[in-house]
Amino acid sequence: MKITAFDGSPRKNGNSTAILRSFTDRAEELGADLTVYRTSELDLKECRGCLMCNVLKKCAIRNDCWNGLADEISASDVLVFATPIYFHHTVSSMKRLLDRFRSFINVRITEEGIIHTPHNPWNKKIFLFTAHGSSSVEDALPLVDLFDFMKETLGEKNSLKCINGTRLAIAGQVTSDKTRLSEIYTKLGLPQHLVEDDYKKNIGLLKTAEEFAENIFSG
Ligand SMILES: Cc1cc2nc3c(=O)[nH]c(=O)nc-3n(C[C@H](O)[C@H](O)[C@H](O)COP(=O)(O)O)c2cc1C
Repeated sequence: MKITAFDGSPRKNGNSTAILRSFTDRAEELGADLTVYRTSELDLKECRGCLMCNVLKKCAIRNDCWNGLADEISASDVLVFATPIYFHHTVSSMKRLLDRFRSFINVRITEEGIIHTPHNPWNKKIFLFTAHGSSSVEDALPLVDLFDFMKETLGEKNSLKCINGTRLAIAGQVTSDKTRLSEIYTKLGLPQHLVEDDYKKNIGLLKTAEEFAENIFSG
């Protein structure tokens, strides 16, 4: 089982990173062939919008890590994306990566609309893990919509599963014990009565990530 994961958090001990780690630790225990990249450390140029990928069926940009990475992505059974939500979307380094996915797709404009056809349709399990400060998942929905679109566009056999971690602002919050969570809530001005349920919610997020990893091995 080849798994390629992308960690978008620019900070140490990120909440999205912790959710990702819960997934990858379990996947490794179960024997996955795993590679994790931090998107902020990738030597990746921005998509320049030349649209040559429509003709070449690969990206025309040279001298960065994309071509090797594209091969690795294509060869993967599972792709995992973990990211903080910044202004209702992903962080810039993750967006830079995702824009390069345009080179996996042929795009044709017709009178009726745009037709997207993958050069080589995927059959992958895709996971999106987000962490964000707001108490509702709404802030993550534009990104979930994008992943839904990519899942559909890149191959009808793809699947997508998401974990959206709400009310997570401070680094390390999702793995905090109850005492630390209580201190964080005082600092953030959040009421203490939320601590008990949010502690359980955070454990649930990490557990769900672990179960997702188990499920990919059980079929
Ligand atoms: C530039 C910036 C923009 C943010 N925008 C949002 C937002 O739109 N909605 C939200 O709920 N949280 C937002 N946050 C809070 C982060 O999503 C939150 O701190 C999250 O836990 C960061 O994830 P990480 O710990 O994995 O780095 C923003 C934080 C920063 C620094």
